[in-house]
Amino acid sequence: MDNRPICFFDSGIGGATILREVVKLLPNEGYIYYADSINNPYGEKSKEELFSIVNKVVSKLLEYDPKAIVCACNTATAMVLNDIRKKYPDIVFIGTEPAVKVVYDYYSDKKTIVLTTKGTGESEKFLDLFHKYETDNCKLVPAPELANLIENNKDASFYLSTLLKDYIGTEVVVLGCTHFPLVKDEIRNVLGDVLFVDGSVGIANRVNSLIKKNNGKGYIKVISTSANVEDRILNIISK
Ligand code: DGL
Repeated sequence: MDNRPICFFDSGIGGATILREVVKLLPNEGYIYYADSINNPYGEKSKEELFSIVNKVVSKLLEYDPKAIVCACNTATAMVLNDIRKKYPDIVFIGTEPAVKVVYDYYSDKKTIVLTTKGTGESEKFLDLFHKYETDNCKLVPAPELANLIENNKDASFYLSTLLKDYIGTEVVVLGCTHFPLVKDEIRNVLGDVLFVDGSVGIANRVNSLIKKNNGKGYIKVISTSANVEDRILNIISK
């Protein structure tokens, strides 16, 4: 038994879509969720800037003596998590990557788009993964403004209708940013009844396989760098 918490971080509310699946699988754990909303969007930062931001977040989370830290952000995973791992070799980090392998394994015959932030879409780590599992049916579509619209609770309908107008007929959408599952309805309004793929269940399984369990009473504590996101985060997790 290990009653230390599992820590999560993201550039705001998006990582709660990962925490939601982890809590379903591991309800007796303590969770600390760090919403770095003030620095959203991570996807528009340089690698150096993002390393310094994530380094500060990780230093803060280490104060909680976590048994693992989940980087609930595709962008931070793609751009800086390898360097962060080198800096903290004793800490168990779990990253988040767009689920392109799932498409390769199960939906390679379907017309697919992979939606990412700018930072993820341009990162070497993600592009290596994308090209490894690339099929003729699978297109990469960066959505640079989407995470920030979602974080600021703005309507993303117009943005998505412009971004996705050339992709009508798509059958599968990979949600390559943890904020994007929060606009599934708006994506369906443009593309119709597509199948969504994200990495949240895979990450929950990974956390489950890596940690020593707690069998106490589960809890979730939210820390945020800007006001008014705690209710939104707890609301996402409760769905
Ligand atoms: N939720 C994030 C991700 O998965 C970050 C988006 C951003 O801040 O640009 O990539």
